[in-house]
Amino acid sequence: MVGEPNLYQSLLTALCERDEYTRGHCERAGVLALEMGHALSLPAADRESLRIASHLHDVGKIGVRDDVLLKRGRLTPDEWEQMKAHSIHGERIIRDTALANRAEVALIVRHHHEAFDGSGYPDGLAGRSVPLSCRILLVIDSYDAMTTTRPYRSARSHDEAMEILRGEVGAKVDPRIFAAFSEVIASSSVRAS
Ligand SMILES: [Fe+2]
Repeated sequence: MVGEPNLYQSLLTALCERDEYTRGHCERAGVLALEMGHALSLPAADRESLRIASHLHDVGKIGVRDDVLLKRGRLTPDEWEQMKAHSIHGERIIRDTALANRAEVALIVRHHHEAFDGSGYPDGLAGRSVPLSCRILLVIDSYDAMTTTRPYRSARSHDEAMEILRGEVGAKVDPRIFAAFSEVIASSSVRAS
């Protein structure tokens, strides 16, 4: 798509100016999104929306204040509400792009923290009401976040992350998506050690 690389570059660069961790996280999420889309035989249009959304899912963090976004300690309830709003900021940013599939991508970005059991945000969707791409992205996002060193903790190993995800199956994680992810990550180039 003409102009698409510039869109990625400008939005991602803007976000990375705020939060350096994000660049590698988004790149790895994009790789896993392609691999999961292939494993689950998603239609080409859905794969493309998932790929773009995986790169840009946290772009709404641009709209979160530094003292909340970069805080090292535990967030207060009010700060947590501000952090959670990144999914809605992101939806709004994507809707303002010229992407042909911006409606689909914006929907994935809005719901990328919805949980299978309805405990997620912003709308508390549950089960199959959570768009399939969002159930996929939740597992990808969780795995990469856990296996990466963050300011408040060190990185977990592949085995530790998979054990935690397994414990979330039927709760935050869709069982079918976990099964597919287990196979995909085993031979993925972005598998943690
Ligand atoms: Fe997020």
